[in-house]
Amino acid sequence: MRTTVAIIGAGPAGLLLARLLDAAGVDSVVLESRDRAYVERRQRAGILEQGTADALRAAGAGGRMDREGLPHAGIELRFARRRHRVDFPSLTGGRSVLVYAQTEVCKDLIALRLSGGGPLLFGAEALAVEDAETHRPRVRYRHEGREGVVECAYVAGCDGFWGVSRRAVPPALVQTYERTYPFAWLGVLADVPPSHDELVYARHDRGFALLSQRTPTVSRLYLQVPEGTDAADWSHGDIWDELERRTGTDDGWRLRRGPITAASVTPMRSYVHEPMRHGRLFLTGDAAHIVPPTGAKGLNLAVGDVVTLARALVAHHATGDPAGLDAYSATCLRRVWQAERFSYAMTAMLHRHPDATPFDDRLQLAQLDRIATTRSAEADLAEAYTGFPLD
Ligand code: FAD
Ligand code: DHB
Repeated sequence: MRTTVAIIGAGPAGLLLARLLDAAGVDSVVLESRDRAYVERRQRAGILEQGTADALRAAGAGGRMDREGLPHAGIELRFARRRHRVDFPSLTGGRSVLVYAQTEVCKDLIALRLSGGGPLLFGAEALAVEDAETHRPRVRYRHEGREGVVECAYVAGCDGFWGVSRRAVPPALVQTYERTYPFAWLGVLADVPPSHDELVYARHDRGFALLSQRTPTVSRLYLQVPEGTDAADWSHGDIWDELERRTGTDDGWRLRRGPITAASVTPMRSYVHEPMRHGRLFLTGDAAHIVPPTGAKGLNLAVGDVVTLARALVAHHATGDPAGLDAYSATCLRRVWQAERFSYAMTAMLHRHPDATPFDDRLQLAQLDRIATTRSAEADLAEAYTGFPLD
């Protein structure tokens, strides 16, 4: 098979890149190892920054998002049984975020690609990227039991943290930066309307909790749990009891309970792979970097990467101008490190480390109190949460 851009992975990064290339008339092939149902159902992120929503609209993928997505103008911080609302528009010059699940973003982009875009092969596992240093890179893959090769001009490695793209970069040229955390998130979906109209981020001596939502009738809820926890270790009753303990306030607020329909555990990690380019191979999204989920940056970073990459690929393909491709890695890494900084700071402020001392607890509470009482500290959080500019 021959194409201009071989895209490995049909997560949000690969699918949006495919869409942007389709719209610019640049042909591409998308290889995705999983089947369509799996990609469309995998529960992950839920918050779109304004820049992400704008990018999806500009790509012609914003119709259902604008009808069904829930605009959110703030979040609530809970600590010491107090609540403090952070109002985004007044702190950021009008910015806000949208609650619209990653599953729905992927469904919309898959539908667009299948109705007139280039090929999108499900069940097609990329095995290796070859000759990335040349002008004619190749991707070897297996589909329906047979091996094949995509010959192309550029490869986009959009295959997430566990993909094969990163392996094509010689280790001597790579610098990685990593931190793991001794805790994880137990995430559940529940058929019950959200207990609060905005997201609630709670710091508690027993650990972090997050009340999020998917639709007006479906809640998405998270609990900090020890690293290595199995979701099956938690009964549904215990999950609700723990959520109630960690989010409780003294003003009569009540947590709504309902049937839990899915539960899974997400490990927490910070990771950056530099550079994000090797020859004609460009790494995007989780293939290049991971943030802990506190602050909801993962999906948004992936979108930022592919918007930058699509622009650079289209320019190089049309005119031969290499400036965008040459700047790709450095341009993305500036945003990536800002998101790493923010996600780390949110994680440290809100989670209970197993070795935490009473001194550490007091520091967390002082930091939350500072945000609740100091406009500059609150604005710093609001600006980072609603998103860093794409350029
Ligand atoms: P992915 O979504 O991982 O997509 C990569 C795709 O490549 C996948 O479809 C995969 O099947 C495919 N692939 C892998 N290897 C190959 C191969 N060899 N050949 C072909 N295809 C391949 N972020 C948040 O902001 N909030 C959250 O609550 C949140 N929860 C998360 C929960 C989990 C379990 C995980 C793993 C991530 C979560 N994230 C969350 C992060 C966010 O979902 C990711 O940052 C986002 O999915 C990144 O998109 P991506 O397209 O780069 O990678
Ligand atoms: C969600 C996930 C996050 O990591 C976050 O900070 C907010 C919301 C969610 O899945 O809804």
